[in-house]
Amino acid sequence: MCGIIGISSNKPVSGNIINSLKKLEYRGYDSAGIATLFEGEIKEVKSEGRVDSLEQNFDLKNLKGNIGIGHVRWATHGVPNSVNAHPHSSHNVSVVHNGIIENSTILKKYLISKGHNFKSQTDTEVIVHLITENLKTSELEIAITKTLEQLHGSFALGIVFKEMPDLIVGARRGSPLAVGYGPNENYLGSDSYALKAMTNKITYLEDGEFCLIKKNQVLFFNEDGKKINKKILELSSDEANYEKGDFKHFMAKEIEEQPVTIKTGIKEYIDRTNSDINIYNFPWKISEINSITLIGCGTAYHSCLMSKYWFEELTQLDVSIDIASEFRYRKNRFKKDTLYIFVSQSGETADTYAALDLCNKNNMKTCAVVNVIESSIARDANFILPIHCGPEIGVASTKAFLGQILILYILVLKLGSLRNEITKEIYQEKIKDLQSLPSLIEKSLLIDNDIQAISSTFNDAKGSMFLGRGFSYPIALEGALKLKELSYVHAEGYPAGEMKHGPLALIEDGMPVVVLAPRDSYYKKTISNMQEVIARGAKVLLITNKSKDEIFSENIWETIEVENTNDDLLPFLLTIPLQKLAYYSALKKGYDIDKPRNLAKSVTVE
Ligand code: G6P
Repeated sequence: MCGIIGISSNKPVSGNIINSLKKLEYRGYDSAGIATLFEGEIKEVKSEGRVDSLEQNFDLKNLKGNIGIGHVRWATHGVPNSVNAHPHSSHNVSVVHNGIIENSTILKKYLISKGHNFKSQTDTEVIVHLITENLKTSELEIAITKTLEQLHGSFALGIVFKEMPDLIVGARRGSPLAVGYGPNENYLGSDSYALKAMTNKITYLEDGEFCLIKKNQVLFFNEDGKKINKKILELSSDEANYEKGDFKHFMAKEIEEQPVTIKTGIKEYIDRTNSDINIYNFPWKISEINSITLIGCGTAYHSCLMSKYWFEELTQLDVSIDIASEFRYRKNRFKKDTLYIFVSQSGETADTYAALDLCNKNNMKTCAVVNVIESSIARDANFILPIHCGPEIGVASTKAFLGQILILYILVLKLGSLRNEITKEIYQEKIKDLQSLPSLIEKSLLIDNDIQAISSTFNDAKGSMFLGRGFSYPIALEGALKLKELSYVHAEGYPAGEMKHGPLALIEDGMPVVVLAPRDSYYKKTISNMQEVIARGAKVLLITNKSKDEIFSENIWETIEVENTNDDLLPFLLTIPLQKLAYYSALKKGYDIDKPRNLAKSVTVE
C-alpha cells in the first residue's frame, strides 16, 4: 500500500502532486511527503499524518521545481512520523517506495561500512544509499539494474536525481506502478486513479521492468536493462464516480449505490431475451473442471465463502476456499481439474496476486473476479469476470462485496447449467428472480432511523457477536468485520450452531448480539441458538426477512426485517443493515469513516 506520484513537466509540479496525493490517501495516510528538484538542489517536505497536515505545516506554493515525487505512507518499517515519511534522500538521490525490502538489514550494514549515514528506521532508506553507492561506479541504467538486483522483496519506486534535473526513474517488482502521458509532461503513479485527473493514457509496468520518465519522453527497460516497447492504454473517463456528491462519506454513497451495482452486474451478465447468462469463451473446457478453489483477503474472502455455499447447493463441484496469505505458503496439491478463482476489488492485493502467480506458474486454470479491470490480477488471470461497480473509495468494502457475490452467484448458475446440474426451469427461474434484486435492495436500504438508534448500544459495549447459519454465516462474518473496521468495537462473527462450543462463555448481561435468521431452511435452528444467547443475557438484534408468520421467541431486543426473496438471494439483503450498523456506529463516535485507523484500501504488501 502507500501511494506514489511523480511528475516531470515544463511547469511547477507541487500543486498537481498535492492533488494526486489527496486521491492516493486511500492507500495509506500515516504520513505524506514531497521532493522536488529546483536550482540543482533536492527540496524535501514531509509531515506525519494526512496530506492536510503537510499543507498546514509547509508553504507548498513556494515549493518550486518542474519535477517532483510524492508519497503517502502506510507504515511497515518504522513508526509513522515525519522522519520515517517518504521521500528519503541522500545528497544526490531521492526515493519514494511502496513495498518491503526484505534484506534491508544486511544492505544497511554494508552501506554503513561504506560510510553512508542513515536518518530513519525505514527499509526504504537503504535503496537511496544503494543507488548513491552504485552511481559512484556505474552509468545510470547500469546503476539502476544493479540496485534492483541487490534488493530482495517487493517494491514500486519513484526516484529523482540531483544531477539529472528532468528525470524520474520508476521501477516495479511486486507492487503496481503506472506511467501516464500528458502534454509537455509525463507521470508516474502507484495506480491509474492517481493519474486520472491529469491523463487517461496509461502504461503499466510489469514485474522487473523500470522506466525513465522525462517531460517529453518515456523509455522502458526489462530486468536485464534492455530497452523494450510497451503499449499505451486509454482509460475510460468516470470522474463523477470519484466525487462524494451530496454524501457525507464515500462509504455512505457506496452503500446507497448498491442497487445500481447490482443492476449493472445484471445488465452485463444476463441476457433477458433468452433468459441466459452471458459468460462465454471460457479458455478451458467446462468438462475439464471438477473442483473450484476460491481465494481472497478480507471482505473478498467472505465473498469466496458465500459462493462456496451456493456452489455446493446448486452444483456437484467440490469447492474449497482459502485466505490468500495462507494459500501462497502452504504445500498445495495443484490439480489440473481445479479452477482457481481469485476475488479482489482492487486487483492489486499482494497476497492474492502472489497466490494467482503461484497458480499460473503451475499452469493452473485461473479466473479473476475483480473490480479494477486494469489491475495486475485482472491482467494475469486466464479469464476475467469484472464486477463493474465503479470506483470504491471508502476503505471498508461495501458495494464491491455485493458486486463480487453477485458475479459469483451468476457464475455458479452458469456452471451448474453447463454441467447439467441445474435444470433449465430452475436456471431460468433463478435468473428471473435476480431481476427483482435491485429494487429489493433499494427498499432494504430504508432503515436508517432504526439502525441509527440501535447503533449506540454497539458503541457502548465491550464486545459484540454476529451469528448466522448456512447462507447467513458468511454475512455474519462480514458484518462483524465491518463493525471492527469502522467503529473499533470488538466483534466476532460465528456460526450460530458453534456458540455452545466455547463462545457462549463470552455472553454476559447486556452484550449486543446480532442474529441473522431469515426464514430459510436454517431458520428454526438459528432461532433456537438465539434463545440460548437471550437466556444468558444477550441483547439480541434479530435480522430476518418480512413474513406473515410470527416469530416465536421472547425477549428479542430489536428486530429488523429486510424484504423477502428466494433463499439464495437473502444474503444480499441481510448485508445492508450490517453495513449501516457499522457506518452509524462510527459516525456517532466521530471516527474517520472512509479512512479507519491503521487500515488501507489496497494492500500491496504481504
Ligand atoms: C484491505 C481492505 C479490505 C479488503 C481487502 C482485500 O484490507 O481494507 O476492505 O477487503 O483489503 O482487498 P481486495 O482489493 O483484494 O478486495
